[in-house]
Amino acid sequence: MALPHSSTFLFFCFCIILASGVTKPANAKNFTLVNQCKETIWPAIITDGGNFHGEGFTLESGQTAFYNAPNGWSGRIWGRTGCSFDKNGNGTCQTGSCGTSINCTSAGSLPVSIAEFTLGDDIDYYDVSLVDGFNLPIVVKPGGGKGNCSIAGCDGDLRQNCSSDLEVKNNGKVVGCRSACDAFNTDEYCCRGAYKDPVSCLPTNFSKSFKQVCPAASSYAYDDRVSIITCSASDYLVAFCASRNNTICTYQDQKFVCNSTSEGFKAISQSWRSWMLALPLASLLQFFL
Ligand SMILES: *[C@@H]1O[C@H](CO)[C@@H](O)[C@H](O)[C@H]1NC(C)=O
Ligand SMILES: *[C@@H]1O[C@H](CO)[C@@H](O)[C@H](O)[C@H]1NC(C)=O
Ligand SMILES: *[C@@H]1O[C@H](CO)[C@@H](O)[C@H](O)[C@H]1NC(C)=O
Ligand SMILES: *[C@@H]1O[C@H](CO)[C@@H](O)[C@H](O)[C@H]1NC(C)=O
Ligand SMILES: *[C@@H]1O[C@H](CO)[C@@H](O)[C@H](O)[C@H]1NC(C)=O
Ligand SMILES: *[C@@H]1O[C@H](CO)[C@@H](O)[C@H](O)[C@H]1NC(C)=O
Ligand SMILES: *[C@@H]1O[C@H](CO)[C@@H](O)[C@H](O)[C@H]1NC(C)=O
Ligand SMILES: *[C@@H]1O[C@H](CO)[C@@H](O)[C@H](O)[C@H]1NC(C)=O
Repeated sequence: MALPHSSTFLFFCFCIILASGVTKPANAKNFTLVNQCKETIWPAIITDGGNFHGEGFTLESGQTAFYNAPNGWSGRIWGRTGCSFDKNGNGTCQTGSCGTSINCTSAGSLPVSIAEFTLGDDIDYYDVSLVDGFNLPIVVKPGGGKGNCSIAGCDGDLRQNCSSDLEVKNNGKVVGCRSACDAFNTDEYCCRGAYKDPVSCLPTNFSKSFKQVCPAASSYAYDDRVSIITCSASDYLVAFCASRNNTICTYQDQKFVCNSTSEGFKAISQSWRSWMLALPLASLLQFFL
């Protein structure tokens, strides 16, 4: 019996999907978050402009967590510090708060260092931004990528190198460093008005001092042009308080393997994502059954 042409094609697609692995479809990217800080942090993950709810959770020193992002996902990841949440997930943080919930559905309060991602079919864009200030060192490391897959991020600790007029303190301790735009709110620092384009909005002393400590992060609005990296990676590592040369995770056999110092492993529950990932396979099966 001769198969209709379209069925042959579908069968071919089906094989490719099976071959690429059932646990991680080709269109999913596995994000590994690792806390290399001495302190507990509360990572937050939000999707840009989407309908998806945000995620938030506790990540103790040495722990890792996973986040499975579909292709086309665009969003940001940051860390909150000094949080105290009750059993309902209500509470506050010293830095990076997004209201009073452990789950974030809006951006973190300033100052906050942010890892930004735009995942594409071929090329991903990623960047660590200090445009909204600094609260934690973040390093982004792609795994299994092609193209310019540089490691992005800020591995210096700007809490120790913050100009005194930008410092944010809690009980006498510097917990964050504000951006000059946030602190002084001038057109020059915020790249507005007469400074609204890349030609007129240039690095300032303040953004230069950020850049000196964190050369692989963007330090002011138009710094993005040189700091955004384009890579077609399979997976990403987002390491808090790691140095660019030395994260405790290495990419082996198409996954990040972390030498965690504590035994805890934490998987993020991800109902809507599982649904999204199940969809392509389910719709193909529909044609067969
Ligand atoms: C992501 O990577 C972790 C660590 O290798 C693994 O345990 C997890 O199953 C992976 N998730 C997916 C969806 O592949
Ligand atoms: C936060 O989100 C998780 C995962 O979606 C959910 O299980 C949990 O109940 C939420 N917690 C709060 C306080 O909203
Ligand atoms: C704290 O959590 C409870 C139960 O989820 C909720 O009813 C209440 O509004 C929350 N309070 C604040 C301040 O968010
Ligand atoms: C940052 O601060 C540390 C400790 O205060 C100092 O040793 C170092 O030189 C500073 N780095 C820069 C680039 O200013
Ligand atoms: C910036 O640097 C210039 C030249 O070193 C100096 O004259 C100026 O006072 C500095 N401005 C600020 C705001 O630190
Ligand atoms: C990759 O991108 C980074 C950041 O933009 C840049 O510094 C570096 O020169 C690029 N490398 C190559 C090989 O293009
Ligand atoms: C990281 O590695 C680069 C190149 O190998 C080196 O120049 C730099 O000093 C290293 N940085 C740290 C913090 O070890
Ligand atoms: C993993 O951690 C242990 C204990 O800290 C250390 O002895 C070992 O060298 C580490 N291994 C790697 C591959 O980093």
